[in-house]
Amino acid sequence: MAAVASARVQVASSATAATAAKRAAQLAAPRPANPLRAAVSQRAAAARVVAAVQAVAAPPAPTADAARPAALVNQEKSLQKPTVIVTGASSGLGLNAANALAQSGDWHVIMACRDFAKAEKSAQKLGMPKGSYTVMHLDLASLESVRQFVQNFKNSGRRLDALVANAAVYLPTAKEPTFTADGFELSVGTNHLGHFLLVNLLLEDLKDSPKNNPAGSPRCIIVGSITGNTNTLAGNIPPKADLGDLRGLTTGLDGRNSSMIDGGEFDGAKAYKDSKVCNMLTMRQLHQRYHDSTGVTFASLYPGCIAETGLFRNHVGLFRTLFPPFQKFVTKGYVSEAEAGRRLAQVVSDPTLNKSGVYWSWDNDKSSLWFDSVDGALENRVSEEVSDDKKGAKLWDLSMKLVGLE
Ligand SMILES: NC(=O)c1ccc[n+]([C@@H]2O[C@H](COP(=O)([O-])OP(=O)(O)OC[C@H]3O[C@@H](n4cnc5c(N)ncnc54)[C@H](OP(=O)(O)O)[C@@H]3O)[C@@H](O)[C@H]2O)c1
Repeated sequence: MAAVASARVQVASSATAATAAKRAAQLAAPRPANPLRAAVSQRAAAARVVAAVQAVAAPPAPTADAARPAALVNQEKSLQKPTVIVTGASSGLGLNAANALAQSGDWHVIMACRDFAKAEKSAQKLGMPKGSYTVMHLDLASLESVRQFVQNFKNSGRRLDALVANAAVYLPTAKEPTFTADGFELSVGTNHLGHFLLVNLLLEDLKDSPKNNPAGSPRCIIVGSITGNTNTLAGNIPPKADLGDLRGLTTGLDGRNSSMIDGGEFDGAKAYKDSKVCNMLTMRQLHQRYHDSTGVTFASLYPGCIAETGLFRNHVGLFRTLFPPFQKFVTKGYVSEAEAGRRLAQVVSDPTLNKSGVYWSWDNDKSSLWFDSVDGALENRVSEEVSDDKKGAKLWDLSMKLVGLE
C-alpha cells in the first residue's frame, strides 16, 4: 500500500512538471515552417525542458507521508518475526524468560499480563530492546479476558510460533477461598482453567506457524512444578497434591459443594499444587491428542526453586526470609531468576529440545543418575498421578465444559 501511494505521488509530480515544461517549450519555440517537423521539434524541445525541470527540481521535502513507508516496512518485518506469547511476563520466571528470548534477537515476545504498567516497567528495567516485545492485556482469572486477548492477538496479524503458559498465583496462607470472575477457586481457575482455554483457542495459530521457527517446530510449554509431583521430596511435603476422583471439579469449584478439585476442605497450598498437576496432565493430554496431527511440541518443565520470586508474596514473612538460604545451602535446589528464565527460554527455542510430551528439569548439583540429559536439560519423570492418562482425559473433558468449549 505504502509503495503504491509513494509511486502515485511521484507520477503526479512528474505529470505536473511535464505539463509546465511543455507549456514553456511551446512559448519558447520559434514559429516553424513545416508543421510536421515543427511538431517533432516542439516535442523535442518540450522533452528537453522536462528533463531540465526534472534535473533542477528539488526532491520533495520529507513529509509524514515519506516517513510512513519505512515505519510500515519495519512493522511488516516485525509481524513476520517468530513470535512467542509468555503469560505472566511481568515478574519472576516469565519476565526473565521473556528477556532472554527478546535479547536473543530471534523472537518477538508478547508479554501477556494483567498489569500493563508493571510489565512495561519490568521490561524497561531489564533493558529489553525497544521493538522486541509487545505488552498485551490478559487476566487469566476471567474467561472473557482470555477470549478478548486471543481476539486482540489474532487482530494483530502476528504469526505464532510458541506459547508459554507460565502465570500463576499461590495462596498458601489463605483461610477462605477466593474466586475468579467465572466463579472458580482462584488458583485452579487462573493457573489451570485460564491457561486451558488460552491454549485451546491458540492451537490452530500454533499449528500454522511458518517453517522458519528458531526451535524448528511450534511449541507449547506449560510450566509445571516439583511441588505437584509426589515422586519428589518437595512433592511429599504436606499438603500433598491429589485430585482424587475430581468430584469437586465436576461440581464447578464454585464453593457451593467444594472449592477443591478432590471435593475436600479448602487449602490454599494444596489448591496450588493441584493446579500444577492439572498443568502437567494438560500438557500430556495435548501431546497425546494433537502432537501428531499438528506438529506442535508440547512440554512442561520444573526450572528449579526460584526462591525469591513474587510467587511467595502471600507467604508469611519468616518463610520469605528463610526459604532462599534454605534452598541455596540445604536442598541446593535454588536457582536465580535469570538462570531460570534462560532455562525456560531454552525449552522454547533450543532445536534439540524438540521431544514432545516431556517434563524437563535441571540437575543443579549434577547428582542424579536416572535422567536422560539433552543440553543440560534432563528428561524428568512425572508422578504416578501425572502419568495417569485416564485421569488426564477426565480432567480434559471436565475442563472443556467449564471453560465453555463444549
Ligand atoms: N518460584 C518458584 O520457585 C517456582 C518453582 C517451580 C515452578 N514455578 C512456576 O513458575 C511460574 C511463574 O512463577 P514465578 O515464581 O515467576 O512467580 P511470580 O513472580 O509471582 O510470577 C507470576 C506471574 O503470573 C502473573 N499472574 C498472576 N495471576 C494472573 C492473572 N490472573 N492473569 C495474568 N497473569 C497473572 C503475575 O502477574 P502480576 O505481576 O500482575 O502479579 C506474574 O507475572 C508459575 O507457573 C509457577 O508455578 C515457580
